[in-house]
Amino acid sequence: MIYPDNQWKHAWDGIILFAVTFAAFEVPLRLVFDYRPEEWVTVADTILAVLFLADVVLQFYSVQSEQGQLITDRREIARRYMQSWFVPDLLAAMPFDLIYLVAGAAGVPLLLVQRIFRVLRIVRILRLFHLAQILRTIQRQSTLHPGLVRMGILAYWVFLAAHWISCGWLAIVSRTDDPVLDYLNALYWCLTTMATVGYGDITPDRTSAVQLLYTMAVMILGVGVYGYVIGNIANMIANLDVARAHHQEKMEQITAFMRYRNIPPALQMRIRNYYNYLWESRRGYDELSVITDLPDSLKADVVMHLNMEILEKVPIFRGSSNEFIRELVVELRPVVYTPGDYVFRRGELGDRMYFISKGKVEILSEDDSEVRAVLSEGEFFGEMALLFHQPRVASVRALDYCDLYYLDRSTFDRVLGRYPEFKKKVTELARERSSSDDAVSGELHA
Ligand code: CMP
Repeated sequence: MIYPDNQWKHAWDGIILFAVTFAAFEVPLRLVFDYRPEEWVTVADTILAVLFLADVVLQFYSVQSEQGQLITDRREIARRYMQSWFVPDLLAAMPFDLIYLVAGAAGVPLLLVQRIFRVLRIVRILRLFHLAQILRTIQRQSTLHPGLVRMGILAYWVFLAAHWISCGWLAIVSRTDDPVLDYLNALYWCLTTMATVGYGDITPDRTSAVQLLYTMAVMILGVGVYGYVIGNIANMIANLDVARAHHQEKMEQITAFMRYRNIPPALQMRIRNYYNYLWESRRGYDELSVITDLPDSLKADVVMHLNMEILEKVPIFRGSSNEFIRELVVELRPVVYTPGDYVFRRGELGDRMYFISKGKVEILSEDDSEVRAVLSEGEFFGEMALLFHQPRVASVRALDYCDLYYLDRSTFDRVLGRYPEFKKKVTELARERSSSDDAVSGELHA
């Protein structure tokens, strides 16, 4: 059985899309021009028939999805298909040109066959309904920007419609003996009318009611399509870079607020720098709020992926078990500090431990005048307050833009209780730091 998300099925859908597009262009042309097909057209027509036939067969093996439920029972799939598209699909899969050739060789009156086929061929256009389905799937599953995909699909339908309208126009006006030029003129008329440009250099014959009615119908249709297309394009362009638009809006809001509340210029600058850094480092997305709607299991997978980089950077995480990593990683929360910001100050009560993903922080001595240590990517701090249940022993200040992840006290306690290895490593380092601090302050007091 072929499932809807099968990669090969997608590739096959791509081929069918191409084949149906070819048919959708060719069928009206044949109706209008009634030409004797050249050899390559006959070959293409036969290939098309084979593809359509193969698609009919594949339909019997394709798992259908209805209201989120997969229908995998072969009999049920066949029953549904037979009751819906089976007959038109089968008719569309007739190798018309090939039959025509064989019939000619067998002495059947060709004019009759030709007439019947000209009309019968129209069933191939019915395959466009399948195509609409395929395009919907592409739209749903594409990893490209949704706006661009929508724009592409819209352009596809507009060009197809323009082609049909042009063929319709050709059927009701007098023609020359240059079919290519005739077609181009018809397309030109169609596009100027639909785009409401209307130069008026190609106009309906005022004595022909059919031409007048046709033109008026295309004008009315054109206005609608034009409005729809323009509206869609405007909407898509506006949405093309939602992140940037959102960031700009945020900046405008913040600037207006800061001016209204007379925030000092230096502080304004820091706030602006913070947002600019958020924009540069993560395009302004607040990653956790973007995924709040996801169910917990999906959220865990996304967070796992997002936080993976910090796991690779922090040496004490290396070689840890998968359960430990999974439990820890979903609890890590990102925070950003700009240069000069205090993460916390000495003496405060602390309930977070921090890991450095990017940037450097300095650990400051009692009166903040002396730097005890500089910690960078992959190191951690703030563990002492949690381990020894005491106030912060030092202040920590960001030296440049810092991407940090923090663990809160409850997770820290839970993880430590569950994974003694981790507890051992953190405690060892905390003791080392503590004794080096004691030594320094001992020296100072001496
Ligand atoms: P905590 O006391 O919670 O807050 C300040 C943090 O600074 C402390 O935990 C340690 O993580 C860190 N720290 C203290 N002394 C040193 C040191 N000598 N070297 C590196 N980090 C330190």
